[in-house]
Amino acid sequence: MWGGRFAEGPSAIMREINASIPFDKVLWREDIAASKAHVAMLAAQGIVTDADARTIADGLDTIAGEYERDGVPENWDLEDIHMVTEDRLSQIVGAAAGRLHTARSRNDQVATDFKLWVRDTIDQTDAALAALQRALVTRAGEHADSILPGFTHLQTAQPVTLGHHLMAYYEMFRRDRSRFADARVRLNECPLGSAALAGTGFPIDRDRTARELGFDRPTDNSLDAVSDRDFALDYLSAAAQTSLHLSRLAEELILWASQPFGFVRITDSLSTGSSIMPQKKNPDAAELIRGHAGRITGCLMQLSMTMKGLPLAYSKDMQDDKPPVFEAASLLALSVAAMTGMIAESTFNIARMRQAAEMGFATATDLADWLVREADIPFREAHHITGAAVKLAEGKGVALDDLTIAQLQDIDPRIDERVYTALSVEASVAARNSHGGTAPAQVRARVADARRVLNMGDGA
Ligand code: ARG
Repeated sequence: MWGGRFAEGPSAIMREINASIPFDKVLWREDIAASKAHVAMLAAQGIVTDADARTIADGLDTIAGEYERDGVPENWDLEDIHMVTEDRLSQIVGAAAGRLHTARSRNDQVATDFKLWVRDTIDQTDAALAALQRALVTRAGEHADSILPGFTHLQTAQPVTLGHHLMAYYEMFRRDRSRFADARVRLNECPLGSAALAGTGFPIDRDRTARELGFDRPTDNSLDAVSDRDFALDYLSAAAQTSLHLSRLAEELILWASQPFGFVRITDSLSTGSSIMPQKKNPDAAELIRGHAGRITGCLMQLSMTMKGLPLAYSKDMQDDKPPVFEAASLLALSVAAMTGMIAESTFNIARMRQAAEMGFATATDLADWLVREADIPFREAHHITGAAVKLAEGKGVALDDLTIAQLQDIDPRIDERVYTALSVEASVAARNSHGGTAPAQVRARVADARRVLNMGDGA
């Protein structure tokens, strides 16, 4: 395409290092859509004739059909999706094809295509995360009363409800969705018409192409427009954060599925067996979700480093923007789908979780709270008294509510029989009815809110 200035063709190495067609062919739909919007605008502005515009648009439709059917040919000499498509257009429609590139450059073209692709991916990610949230909310509703140990430092802390635990992840994915939505708003300005870097002398209508491609408005600075990859970084950073949330949930499922925990049986369809140990059922999907968080976060680092220190405007470094985004998008889509399946289809062992919640003196705080409430003892002193009770129970190898009233009164005479009602795990979770607390009533209220937000009906 630039043969006019060069005496020799590119060396084999140049051809190979330069080619982006192996990966940017993914952008063919966006490239054709943007070209059609561009040529329609050129005709409307009288920059090309209506007849040429129609010829070009028809040729682009033909190419779209070919790509759909046969895939995009990977011709490295033609470098990228923009030139592969333009070259094919000239084979199909002849000289008129040469008019398509009036008042644009590959620099504004690639920025436009890539934004369209990322925007579409954001929409797909949002839908996938909403499906994951629906699965979480459904299971949380089923398990509003199921009790398991809540941990801090992975040490038994206080009993919590499984519904509450699952709804914690609902909240994380709610914030993730809002980060993607926010990225989408900022992304949605159209670079097309910024041309190589300085704009164009042709009387183009940028509002028209922006509108046609679903953007809110054209970008306001051509130098920025062709060299901005914030939208890709915003996407990657939302994707990385989502992957971190997924990895935490994956890790909990892995722990919970292990024999010493035994809280959950991960669905067979998302587990694997061992080739040597017949009893094994491994949580591979969960482990890979946990692992993919590393790769997705790596993609964010990769593009951040590519963009660091680049002068205005376009530099070829920026061609490296696409592989990390494509990689992160496919890893994230798979991770979300696998997690949705695991949440929807795994079986929780309610008895086992409850039993674990009763170990480790999980209701010690309830004893302290009871002393504050019923005996008007300052919390610090109540904490101390409770510590003595835990020590005694631990020494005897029994649970707190297995201590006799005589033993408890020995520690502090202000304790009476009523204390036992506070020491069960059921009483413990029911008591934590503050807004956002773990009480079944709170979980049911949050589940009802979430069902409304996600248009799931009232579940009745
Ligand atoms: N393949 C290039 C990319 O992805 C397209 C833009 C090339 N522009 C240029 N002036 N060489 O970045």
